[in-house]
Amino acid sequence: MKNKPITYKQILEKKDYLPFYVYDYDIIKGQILKLKNNLPSNVELFYSAKANPNLAILKIMNNFNLSAEIISLGELSAVKKANFKSKEIFFAGSTKTDNEFIHSFNKGVRLFSIESISELQRLNKVARNFNRKIDIIIRLNLGNDQEMKIYKYSRVSDFGIEIKDFEKILHNFSNNFSNINLKGVHFYGMSRICNSDVLIKGIDNLFSIICNLEKKFDINFKIINIGGGFESSMLKELDVLIFCKKLKNLIKKYNLNNRNIILELGRYFINKSGVYITKIIDVEKKRDSIFLTVKGLLNCLLKTLSREGENKDDFAIEIIQQSKQKTYSTVIRGQMSSTIDAFGRGFNSKFSLPKSKPGDFVIIKGVGAYGLTQALSLFGSRSIIAEFLMINNRLELIRKRSNHDDIISYQRIPKILKSKTINE
Ligand SMILES: Cc1ncc(COP(=O)(O)O)c(C=O)c1O
Repeated sequence: MKNKPITYKQILEKKDYLPFYVYDYDIIKGQILKLKNNLPSNVELFYSAKANPNLAILKIMNNFNLSAEIISLGELSAVKKANFKSKEIFFAGSTKTDNEFIHSFNKGVRLFSIESISELQRLNKVARNFNRKIDIIIRLNLGNDQEMKIYKYSRVSDFGIEIKDFEKILHNFSNNFSNINLKGVHFYGMSRICNSDVLIKGIDNLFSIICNLEKKFDINFKIINIGGGFESSMLKELDVLIFCKKLKNLIKKYNLNNRNIILELGRYFINKSGVYITKIIDVEKKRDSIFLTVKGLLNCLLKTLSREGENKDDFAIEIIQQSKQKTYSTVIRGQMSSTIDAFGRGFNSKFSLPKSKPGDFVIIKGVGAYGLTQALSLFGSRSIIAEFLMINNRLELIRKRSNHDDIISYQRIPKILKSKTINE
């Protein structure tokens, strides 16, 4: 039974949980299959857990045989709990601590991405102390002119090892890093790419650099991680079918059919499936706009901030009420008395929404990725909110809302402050 959009009645039934997130299983499944069914057979798909590490979401990815890309020990625990096998886990992220390495060895993480020479030296030392040989790929920084240029975000990447430095370490790699197996390379250009030509141009550059390095150093990179960063918002999305076709041609052009090519994506899989639902507490008219105050915003959804490259059309906002009426220029704000706790103010223009009243529900669509994970959860000391999965037209609770006083549970007041007077 395919899911229908969430109804007023369904929200009403869960009103005690408001605000909350809902992720639509069918949309996630559709995104996975569209890509999986069209990729060349030597491309392995990784889900970037940082986009949404809820256990139920991770389990969906695991059920569809995706591998997992993680950046912390918390994400490692989560992907283990969601049943990912060691051989399906890849630890990326800039600069891992010794403790993160050690813990990951113990949990049997398959592969690490290394982003600097000092990180590589440190890993070699930790691995030597463990008497282990560790599989890695090196993240490359292709530099300003070869970097994928995206019209929205054309910043130079700070991450990875530059080619000239990579060449230096390749000269005597196995002697200098005797506890490391260099399995390949990793490249991650940019996020939110919606033009397949831009993406393919970056991968073409990467493949050409790799083939030259292989010739020059007489080596063979078994793993080539081409990154990802596909855009998937309410307004636009990368055409994955065209991308897959072009990628197939590129793999053929460079004769890379026998390599393990990795594609790592977060937003693409989950963003469109997610909606954030909250309740209007107050409605005020000020100057030329309507201000709706809703329960929980910035502490639940960072996208309220005016962020570079973000556009109000990336999100669709709906007021759920009994009857539709004329629309008004509207700002949606949270309860923080902070100008950044407002949706619509910093974007290109305000939202055009129907007249509403306290008790109506607001739905913000296209926020499944980096919604709760990037929210300023501690700001305002409110609860961490609930999450639901819509599956077979039923709302399954996948995260309980925390209690108000959970916020104080890991804190302590030092004894010296317990009495109101401190001796000089
Ligand atoms: C190295 C790396 N891999 C994967 C991702 C996931 O990107 P996205 O969610 O845009 O697909 C990111 C995002 O910042 C990243 O930095």
